[in-house]
Amino acid sequence: MVSLRTLPVAFRALFSSFLILIGVGYLMALTYMYAVVIQPHEQMGEGLVAGIGDQYYGQPNGKTLIESALMGPMSDKASAADRDAILQWVHDGASVDGYAKVAPLFAADCAGCHMADAQSIPPLTSYAAVEVVAKSDTGTSFADLAEVSHIHLFGISIIFLLTGAIFAFSETAIWLRLTLVVVPYLTILADIGSWWLTKYVDPAVFAYVVVGGGACMGLALAAQILIGLWEMWIARHKASHTQ
Ligand code: HEC
Repeated sequence: MVSLRTLPVAFRALFSSFLILIGVGYLMALTYMYAVVIQPHEQMGEGLVAGIGDQYYGQPNGKTLIESALMGPMSDKASAADRDAILQWVHDGASVDGYAKVAPLFAADCAGCHMADAQSIPPLTSYAAVEVVAKSDTGTSFADLAEVSHIHLFGISIIFLLTGAIFAFSETAIWLRLTLVVVPYLTILADIGSWWLTKYVDPAVFAYVVVGGGACMGLALAAQILIGLWEMWIARHKASHTQ
């Protein structure tokens, strides 16, 4: 029977190279997610789950980012009077006309850090810049969510078709092989389904599914890669010694 252990060396080299690159790709995906989703929210004192809720769901009740910041982490950056004036302006619809009155407050209290060329925090030096954080934050849009969903569904299914096809030649117990080739597909569905549920139903509960589904997918992929490499190179070596 064909198995990873007995494959010709060229196939083992090809499959191993592919599995290793996919593993590195997965680590890069985690790094990207950390940099884009987790770290910015961590800086605001939010945990992983709250951060994911914010990302897909936005601020509760259509609250704006600037309100959350002024009531939370930025509350000590302006005097109570300045804060109230800015909040009032935001409540009144953050209009261009009213901006003239609050512009000096932003310049005095905020622009020292939120400079025009600020990278990781929003600049607060012009109306156009302030408007971005003064509009109600509804999270990832329907269209954006549809876009990332279909790209992920197509892309990840193909990746797991290839890693699963390689792993199917492993000599592990049949239940383990079946589990490890099917689980990634279930987690893709749970994961992407929960992005939508996080946005449209309840951010708290489904954010846990995003995290849990992502973790199961990662574990299944890691198992496919590590067991595959083990059987192709190390188990084979051991077997040839004991024969
Ligand atoms: C001493 C520097 C400093 C000052 C002054 C400051 N900020 Fe910030 N601000 C930060 C940093 C750093 C972050 C990112 C980390 C955080 O949220 O704690 C941030 C984050 C924010 C965010 C959230 C950005 C996001 O994408 O989540 C908003 C909104 C904001 N500040 C508004 C203001 C306003 C309004 C003022 C003036 C009243 C102000 N900040 C004054 C340093 C500053």
